[in-house]
Amino acid sequence: MSQTERLPRKRTYLMCPPAHFTVEYAINPWMDTSVPVDAGLALKQWTLLRDTLTDLGHSVHVLDAQPGLPDMVYAANGAFSVDGTVYGARFRFPQRAAEAVAHEHFYADDWKYTHPVHVNEGEGDFAYLPEAYGGLILAGYGFRTEPAAHAEAQEVLGRPVISLRLVDPAYYHLDTALAALDDSRITYFPDAFSEQSRRVLAQLFPDAVLADRADAEAFGLNLVSDGRNVILNTEAVAMGAKVRAAGYQPVHVELSELKRGGGSVKCAVAELRP
Ligand code: ARG
Repeated sequence: MSQTERLPRKRTYLMCPPAHFTVEYAINPWMDTSVPVDAGLALKQWTLLRDTLTDLGHSVHVLDAQPGLPDMVYAANGAFSVDGTVYGARFRFPQRAAEAVAHEHFYADDWKYTHPVHVNEGEGDFAYLPEAYGGLILAGYGFRTEPAAHAEAQEVLGRPVISLRLVDPAYYHLDTALAALDDSRITYFPDAFSEQSRRVLAQLFPDAVLADRADAEAFGLNLVSDGRNVILNTEAVAMGAKVRAAGYQPVHVELSELKRGGGSVKCAVAELRP
């Protein structure tokens, strides 16, 4: 695989600074309200992630952080867009509900925005592979997004949606257990999925890069790739080696503070697909 030259494609992303980031409630197993967050460090790490993306030639839009929405830094959860159409988010927990509105405002002008009926957490549970089977959406359920939202997303976006059942509460969003490495190839941690979903993934993606539990625990699957450069956090050393062996260029960034909320690189970055 490493013989193939992996070509980057210019991307447009949306991020939201951790200006009001704290861990004041616990809605996933990583969140511990008794351990204080270093807000200054969180902002410094976030800024470095943003600069890493712009230095690679990508555009990054920034959404204003709002007081009272401490998880807003996880911008991936706010919506899911494919070819200029946006399928809006509807959060599982009331603490995050208002984030969907802030994202909707961002899309107001140039996008076709659809309000969801069903609970779904945007790119946290949806991934898009433009060159796999003519354009395929992978969707997770089991903890946050409702399976009914998968069918709804398919109707809104006009792309086949493959439903995958997540079974480990530590990997409560699809993007903690699976990532697109380029337009047709994925990496995933099999044990995060039900046996039958693992079978579906093996059938559709025989060339996937398989990650193990240690990679998932290090949030190594929570990566952003431009098709060549794979941005992942510094803890995910072994995952970096795996993507390098597959011909990609790992780019490590320190994101220790965001892990306190149960997220890393991908959670902080929504890809906009005009
Ligand atoms: N504290 C946030 C939550 O539990 C973290 C979200 C992480 N985002 C992601 N795309 N996985 O909702």
